[in-house]
Amino acid sequence: MSMNTQGCPTRADDANVTEAPTFTGNKALQIEEALSFEIGDLAGTGVDFPEADGSEDRLGGLARNSDIGLPGLSEPETMRHFVRLSQKNYAIDMGPFPLGSCTMKHNPRLNEKIARLPGFADLHPLAPQSAAQGALELIDRLAFWLKELTGMPAVAMSPKAGAHGELCGMMAIKAAIEARGEGDKRIRVLAPESAHGTNPATAVRCGFKVEAIPADETGRVDLAALKEKLGDDIAGIMVTNPNTCGLFERDIRAIADAVHEAGGYFYCDGANFNAIAGKVKPGDLGVDAMHINLHKTFSTPHGGGGPGSGPTVLSQVLAPYAPVPFVVHDGDEYHLVETRRAAKTQGEGAESFGRLTAFQGQMGMFTRALSYMMSHGVDGVRQAAEDAVLNANYVLARLKAEMTPAFDGYCMHEALFDDRFLKDTGVETIDFAKAMIDEGYHPMTMYFPLVVHGAMLVEPTESESKRELDLFCDALLFLAKRARAGDVDRFKAAPVYAPRRRLDETAAARKPVLRWTPESPREAAQ
Ligand SMILES: Cc1ncc(COP(=O)(O)O)c(C=O)c1O
Repeated sequence: MSMNTQGCPTRADDANVTEAPTFTGNKALQIEEALSFEIGDLAGTGVDFPEADGSEDRLGGLARNSDIGLPGLSEPETMRHFVRLSQKNYAIDMGPFPLGSCTMKHNPRLNEKIARLPGFADLHPLAPQSAAQGALELIDRLAFWLKELTGMPAVAMSPKAGAHGELCGMMAIKAAIEARGEGDKRIRVLAPESAHGTNPATAVRCGFKVEAIPADETGRVDLAALKEKLGDDIAGIMVTNPNTCGLFERDIRAIADAVHEAGGYFYCDGANFNAIAGKVKPGDLGVDAMHINLHKTFSTPHGGGGPGSGPTVLSQVLAPYAPVPFVVHDGDEYHLVETRRAAKTQGEGAESFGRLTAFQGQMGMFTRALSYMMSHGVDGVRQAAEDAVLNANYVLARLKAEMTPAFDGYCMHEALFDDRFLKDTGVETIDFAKAMIDEGYHPMTMYFPLVVHGAMLVEPTESESKRELDLFCDALLFLAKRARAGDVDRFKAAPVYAPRRRLDETAAARKPVLRWTPESPREAAQ
């Protein structure tokens, strides 16, 4: 009997079993699940209340006269429906999540416990400040540590994602430029070719024109090319550090100095702060604004697109433009400064650009992030960064036996490969990624950053053990060998074992079906 690296019998032993479709459509405990609207029956569930006496129509004839179309499931059916759906999600609690640039690290259970304390979890955002002193103190403490770790004097806590933090930082930059009377003149923002898409999108959203800076042969910003693009119309630069190729920008100080000399501001995309937290203070690098994705560096859940949190640290020059609300501490009490007018009387936020969110930010994420920080301490946060870099370099060192690293030398927290090792095999990056699903792995980030052909960006994070990393590397080395052995059909067919085979991604992008309609596309096709 053949065994896999975990000592379990492999599927090779099942090779003679035909995969005939089952009667139910289920594949063992992989249960097919229809939409609740398709399986529900309103007649069989719920409670019918008697007509209320004397209830006259107070809706002026606008009361609905047809069924609302609720699904109508019993409690066990409802529970099963959502549990089955949840089981179709891959999650960090199921296995490694090597998505580069995403830092999918373990979400400690301690964080969850603290976030559920009723004093935090049940607090209403409109509760009087006198009744919310503990929550305000928590926000203030987290702000303190974020400033401490980044070496920056101010932080806006309310942004609700990395991209939202970018918006906050760029709005502060815009406000500062306008206050200098240069709003019409300084209209260009520079961003490296390898930038995450949210960087140019944010700059454009703020009314700037974006220009790309090429990468040099080491995968870093080409300083000479950058200097050529500077002029008195520069509003600023947006640079990710460590960058999206997983490399530390060696010229980062020179970049900051050049942009400042040209009269612009330096926005640092801090999505990769996990690699340097406790080691490098962005404030020492000349940064004017930087968001911190709490869900990446400080272990709060990514939550399927939300709720995230992207506090944005600001330099002394940008601090006056910080958004409201923010927390101030005078002696024994914490206060919320909620309006621009109130902000004017405070040092920080004196020229606030206004409000970004309805309330103070993502309290649940603040609670989790502070819990992480306090349980790790500064030395623990530093070690997490060191281990994240060590793990990525371990993966790089092992995989380069069969795969091609995009750049020479050590990496920071993520290992970037290109598709040269697949040359002439007929297998492409996407096929390789789909074959990983069959092996039980969530694919790495593919085709990003764009500066690398057929990019595969692996970010193992510090939370993976050597055992997990070895299994992961063994699987990828096996796939790389199989690709070179000419097993193209298998790659093109992958994923074979997933509940759904390969989707038509072009159709999904061009003709997305985004809402349920009573006649489903499947019925229409019959
Ligand atoms: C480099 C970089 N910048 C910005 C973002 C945006 O962060 P968020 O997803 O929290 O909006 C990401 C997200 O993956 C990123 O990797």
